[in-house]
Amino acid sequence: MFSVKPMKSPLAKVVEAPIHGPTIEVHLADTSYLPRGEKMRKPTHCVLTPKYATLAERIHRLPVYDDDVWILSFPKCGTTWTQEMVWLISHDLDYKTASEVNLLDRSIFLEFSAFVLNFPGDTIEEVENATRPRHIQCHLPIALLPRQIWTVRPKLIYCARNPKDATISYYHHHRHIHGYQGSLQEFLDGILADQVLFGPQIPHTLDFWNIRREMNILFLHFEEMKTSMDAVLRRVCKYFNKTYTDEQLAQLANHLSFDVMKNNKSANNSCVLELVESLSGKKVENFQFMRKGKIGSHSEELTEEYIRKLDEYTQHHLAESDFRFK
Ligand code: A3P
Repeated sequence: MFSVKPMKSPLAKVVEAPIHGPTIEVHLADTSYLPRGEKMRKPTHCVLTPKYATLAERIHRLPVYDDDVWILSFPKCGTTWTQEMVWLISHDLDYKTASEVNLLDRSIFLEFSAFVLNFPGDTIEEVENATRPRHIQCHLPIALLPRQIWTVRPKLIYCARNPKDATISYYHHHRHIHGYQGSLQEFLDGILADQVLFGPQIPHTLDFWNIRREMNILFLHFEEMKTSMDAVLRRVCKYFNKTYTDEQLAQLANHLSFDVMKNNKSANNSCVLELVESLSGKKVENFQFMRKGKIGSHSEELTEEYIRKLDEYTQHHLAESDFRFK
């Protein structure tokens, strides 16, 4: 069902991180049952790990329910932010439970145990056993999602982000959480050559964009959440058939603002850092998951040369598409 190819280039080795080890390219052999979407596209492959390959079939055969809520994204595109927003809107703004139960347990990261080498848990089993309606977070591209998604048609929410900001955010995540030791330049070269875990980003986004109408995907942008949260909240409420007062929506926007979320232990992923510290035996220093939360923060760190290279890489991928990053 899947074909896998070990990634052996010197660059793939450089951008490998201790938390996940060597990487492989995973392709789905038979894509005939996937939604066709608006344009003929070959669904993207994904850079994953040998541990994932042993669990791919299990993920592919995972039972899906029509009341599931799937939060889909490429890493660092505002996943956590979207998870908290969607969970609260669909749970009648239950701030009490949201503060008592960590977001990681309210909205489960399906393939976490499939790429973190010495993680003792089983996040696939957690999803299987979660109380319905389940909230599931997933970075896999369309080809590797559970097959039943396309027939059962649960709620699907996708969050996209400008590749330059996502790339810089991913670099810091890879360095501080995954234990990556290489340079920024090597990481950027790895992104441009599609060698980094979960990559490539742009075809991942385009595949979901292409099927958004057919699959009734709620398609969001990080940048819209930043500049027009009120409008985004209203779209999400409509998607979940929920009605809240202006006051309630203003309170929710405040709860989801960067400074408030950064200090919210139940939703700021500080426990991910604690978990990484216990797995690696090393302290995560000078890093918070809620790092900058800005639009355009890549400009503080990318050279002109890499801004140009990433722009050209993006334009190349978008050439045949009507999709544009914000
Ligand atoms: P930066 O590293 O650019 O700050 P993900 O959850 O997909 O890993 O995405 C993480 C990115 O989203 C980080 O970006 C993080 O700071 C940002 N983020 C998370 N919550 C946010 C919020 N409430 N407002 C703005 N940005 C947020």
